[in-house]
Amino acid sequence: MSNTPQHVSSSATDEVFTLEKRDDGIVILRFAVPGARQNTITADFADSFDRALDAIEHDTEVIGVVLISDTPGSFLAGADIGLFDQVESAAEVEGLSKRGQASFTRLSKLHVPVVAAIEGSCLGGGLELALACDVRIAAESRATTLGLPEVMLGLLPAGGGTQRLPRLVGIATALDLMLTGRKLRAMQAKKIGLVDSVVAPEALLLEAIRQARMAGKRSSTARASLLQRARDRVSGGLGGLTNAALEDNPAGRRVLFDQARKTLRAKTHGHYPAPERIIDVVATGYAQGIKAGYAAEARALGELALGAVSKALRHVYHATESLKKASFVARNVKPRAVGHAGVLGAGLMGAGIATVTVDKAGLPVRLKDVSDDGLARGMQQVRSFYDKRVAKKAMTQAAADRCLYQVTATTDYSGIGAADIVIEAVFEDLALKQSMLADVEAAADARGNPDCIFATNTSSLPIADIAAHAKRPENVIGLHYFSPVEKMPLLEIIATDKTSKKTIATAVAFGKAQGKTVIVVRDGPGFYTTRTLSPYLNEAARLLAEGASVRAIDEALVDYGFPVGPLTLLDEVGVDVGVKVGPILEAAFGERMAAPDASAKMIDAGYLGRKSGKGFYDYTAKKKQGGKRPVNAELATLLADDENGGPAPGAAEIVERCTLLFVNEAAHCLSERIIDDPMQGDIGAIFGLGFLPFTGGPFRYVDTVGVRRIVDRLQALAERHGPRFRPAPILKTMAQATSDSHQRFYP
Ligand code: NAI
Repeated sequence: MSNTPQHVSSSATDEVFTLEKRDDGIVILRFAVPGARQNTITADFADSFDRALDAIEHDTEVIGVVLISDTPGSFLAGADIGLFDQVESAAEVEGLSKRGQASFTRLSKLHVPVVAAIEGSCLGGGLELALACDVRIAAESRATTLGLPEVMLGLLPAGGGTQRLPRLVGIATALDLMLTGRKLRAMQAKKIGLVDSVVAPEALLLEAIRQARMAGKRSSTARASLLQRARDRVSGGLGGLTNAALEDNPAGRRVLFDQARKTLRAKTHGHYPAPERIIDVVATGYAQGIKAGYAAEARALGELALGAVSKALRHVYHATESLKKASFVARNVKPRAVGHAGVLGAGLMGAGIATVTVDKAGLPVRLKDVSDDGLARGMQQVRSFYDKRVAKKAMTQAAADRCLYQVTATTDYSGIGAADIVIEAVFEDLALKQSMLADVEAAADARGNPDCIFATNTSSLPIADIAAHAKRPENVIGLHYFSPVEKMPLLEIIATDKTSKKTIATAVAFGKAQGKTVIVVRDGPGFYTTRTLSPYLNEAARLLAEGASVRAIDEALVDYGFPVGPLTLLDEVGVDVGVKVGPILEAAFGERMAAPDASAKMIDAGYLGRKSGKGFYDYTAKKKQGGKRPVNAELATLLADDENGGPAPGAAEIVERCTLLFVNEAAHCLSERIIDDPMQGDIGAIFGLGFLPFTGGPFRYVDTVGVRRIVDRLQALAERHGPRFRPAPILKTMAQATSDSHQRFYP
């Protein structure tokens, strides 16, 4: 049989792998999971792969193999995550890992060279498959990404990846990839030696065939020299410990692993077991040999997959995936096409919104500010985003220039009235925002564009207030982005009673095109995110007034798993901005939202945070040894009379009071239907506010701790500290439920 596709099993019509044997003895091993847009490893995939290997092993005419995906834009995106949710024991998961390891080892031991031709996502098990090949060629295309993201799901690469990757690119580089889960583009992968060459997509197959014909099986000497070259190309990482001298001897490796553990602990505070196990398993492979490494890898996967943290992170993953698919409106409501966007205000947020609109959504943006200076600053923010991408080799200068040309600047309304959607990100001022809306409506009328959507990026003002005098309130919506927009994954969309379904559908599609995870919430003071964050931040300021130190408060919550402490966060946002929303929320919700006196005193004293040089911390002084920023020394005197004279609250109390107020307010939002379901609340809190990702979000946190316990603690705190701790109605109802399932937000 020559140059004709051959299914590896004659009976199967939905076989994942097909073999095409050419006259020159090269076998092209193609794979595509039937009906799937992304290839993932399922049970069928593994069976079909083993059958393909049987066929190749028994064919003595074969001189080389090219492994290539037949699914456009997808090489192989790793294991189907659903597999892990169905398993019942660690031993079962360990078995899955061992099976993968065995198949990949079989591939690596084929008698002929195997070339992986990679285009599209090559992630997790997909990259491990490629690592078991002799040569890897990647197509330079937007779709091509390589990485081992298992750590983000609380897992580890367990198809031999923890052992093969360090032996290909060096230990330090491999740890960096596995511990961050970051994805590389083709050129970045080439730079670290993860792929051998990068070609244009059209040339991928031919080049792979050419290399399969030329390449021999790689000897261990050839592998060692590849490793050396890879290390020579990379510098830095893990405090510069990447040199071969350290990696090539047991004592040096011990230093390297210890350093990696220390750096990791400082980041995770012990809440994430997966990265720790990754280091252990890599270390085992070096200390006891690769077989022991494989065994440790499989065992660790079993333990992690059944652990609470991986379950929570998988919950976040599934929730994110389901939000990606959600349209939030009835099926028959289709979004309007958006071909051109306008952004008002070229400040921090406006420039960020413009950047993601061009970069991710690929749409031209008209950016308006009041002054040329403002515009210049905003354009510089966009430019520096692209400069960094080019420097990281994530894109070429020509491609960056093409994007930059898509952002045009103006100080008047020219080009704004023709936009399909205009997002305002001017100062947080109701009258100003209302006048922007009127201007945009007039500009749209002048262009005969009545469908133009007016979106506001306000962080606190009710959208209905901004739309109070709108001619077309059905076109008005809140698009609440988070800072820095280029990085933060969440977009909170706020619909008023008057916002049309068409406007919601269009805004959702627009936000997704910008690469955001979108939640849609009801309008109300503080919406969902600002409202849940406020009592948490207020409580931190109260604890300060009760005698806890600035550092004790921030450290307690960071240690508990928040990405930054609440007082550092207030300094970043601006103490004035943080408390501005206080009166609005207090008017709506009463005492539980009242901002403490401490904040008002700080504003009076001019301690507004980083922007004014001093806030809770002192930004004018140099950082102390150990990289810690000094606390604002004058704060103690300023707040002295607030102290109640009792003992300062300790770490456990700080954590409990702040976290429970956050969780309780999230529950109030669900009771009042500000959010439709707990899932959106969990994702909004994690992706927008950094709420303890390892818990799976505030609602899943309640499920894990137990609603009765949460209610008991809130009631105890209410007796001691006041009614702001009274449990939300939904929590009380759940705590009184007799059946287990009614005491949980999730099944
Ligand atoms: P910013 O002060 O950096 O930028 C505001 C920009 O608006 C300035 O460049 C200013 O010149 C411009 N501007 C003022 N009046 C204008 C007008 N009439 N026409 C055109 N441009 C005008 O402020 P930032 O931080 O970007 O915030 C903007 C909005 O985004 C505010 O409503 C804020 O509450 C909201 N927001 C801010 C977040 C943050 O973390 N900074 C997060 C989420 C929302």
